[in-house]
Amino acid sequence: MIKAVILIGGPMKGTRFRPLSLDLPKPLFPVAGFPMIYHHIAACSKVPNLQEILLIGFYRHLEPLKKFIAECQQEFKVQIRYLLEYTALGTAGGLFLFRDQILIDNPKAFFVMNADVCGDFPLLEMLNFHKQNPAGSYGTILGTEATRQQSLRFGCMVEGKATHEVLHYVEKPETFISNIINCGIYLFNPEIFQAIETAFKKNAKDSYKLDDPVQSREMIRLEQDIFVPLAGSGKLFICHTNKFWSQIKSAGAAIYANRHYLAIYNKTHPDRLAVNSEDSPKIIGDVYIHPTAQVDPTCVVGPNVTIGKNVKVKAGVRLRESIILEDAVLQDHSCILYSIVGWNSIVGAWSRVEGTPNDPNPNKPFAKLDIPALFTDDGRLNPSITVIGSKVHIPPEVIILNSIVLPDKDLNSSYKNQIIL
Ligand code: GDD
Ligand code: GTP
Repeated sequence: MIKAVILIGGPMKGTRFRPLSLDLPKPLFPVAGFPMIYHHIAACSKVPNLQEILLIGFYRHLEPLKKFIAECQQEFKVQIRYLLEYTALGTAGGLFLFRDQILIDNPKAFFVMNADVCGDFPLLEMLNFHKQNPAGSYGTILGTEATRQQSLRFGCMVEGKATHEVLHYVEKPETFISNIINCGIYLFNPEIFQAIETAFKKNAKDSYKLDDPVQSREMIRLEQDIFVPLAGSGKLFICHTNKFWSQIKSAGAAIYANRHYLAIYNKTHPDRLAVNSEDSPKIIGDVYIHPTAQVDPTCVVGPNVTIGKNVKVKAGVRLRESIILEDAVLQDHSCILYSIVGWNSIVGAWSRVEGTPNDPNPNKPFAKLDIPALFTDDGRLNPSITVIGSKVHIPPEVIILNSIVLPDKDLNSSYKNQIIL
């Protein structure tokens, strides 16, 4: 029997995701029509003999999570529980705190997934790979390749070529170590808790040092506290994937993830994608339209657009590479490109909302999405996806370009490269 844990974090994180995470825990932000971690749960539900999925985090605003869990349990017929950490305990601290819950019913192994990644999760491949690991091993880490420069933003692993063993692990190194990066998806044997317990005890002792008062005694990081000491011991192994995988740290990354999940629907759920017909809008490429949304047949939509629940899209609207969230209204002939329009927002007639994509360099193999800093060195906003927070009102005939608009704003003119507070 197998279990899965999804590390959903808590409200302190996700600052790069503002203003979208102000209304909803970031792991529930919809990508391609479904909450971010819905895609994790869908992947887990395909693992044979998977008994339970545990969400571990420190969100205290329980209503949206409860509702999400109830819906998923019903759809996937699998038990899902949320285990609440009393504070941020780090990526391994929550696992350690809830070890008894994880180990109830003696799972042979359990997956651990970071919530803020997306991809074509190859869990079955990981299971098959994991079975080949030598007896006494602790776990398998999903690895992928990144460019030399981009690898510095991830956990980097040096691999024993013949054995696939992790020989050396450095979390976000300062100089180049390896272009094999940690995808934040793991499959552990229960024995991993021995290593976590060792780290817990070491931290407890170390934190009594007077010169290191900030380090929280309870915080245990899977990467620095567990993988670094285990590297080279023959206990951790790398399962490689070259399928689609990306982090979702920013709004721009959500647009990128949206595109890839829509592309995956072509294989897995073609019924979710809109098709052209006589009385439908003109659909270009992959488009998801929620069944309750009303889109005028004179609109042109796509590629890579998601239109949420109860959204109203009026005559002549053009939409491309964008996510329109629940209950938004796009008035006649508005144009939305590379943008996210928040819940209950209204875009006035003939207005244009446009952002700038930061797609990976298509000429570099293994390039991942770059997440540029919010501001340039001289203090200007870096052009990026335009994000309209919830309940924003954009008047007719204005242009909102490369901007971030915080919730509840009533705009009265055009804006370019600005954060509108
Ligand atoms: N429950 C809980 N408690 N979850 C947490 C905590 C915590 O205290 N801290 C972080 N998480 C969750 C986050 O919600 C996220 O899903 C995941 O753990 C990792 O978050 P970060 O700590 O922000 O790490 P990162 O994303 O910068 O890097 C990690 O993921 C990369 C792949 O995306 C590392 O594992 C890297 O090595 C890896 O390459
Ligand atoms: P590339 O194919 O990437 O070169 O883009 P493009 O030249 O098609 O133009 P762009 O990405 O700016 O716009 C995408 C689509 O939106 C195009 O089909 C345009 O016709 C349409 N579009 C652009 N601006 C407006 C506008 O202000 N109003 C409306 N209704 N549609 C527009």
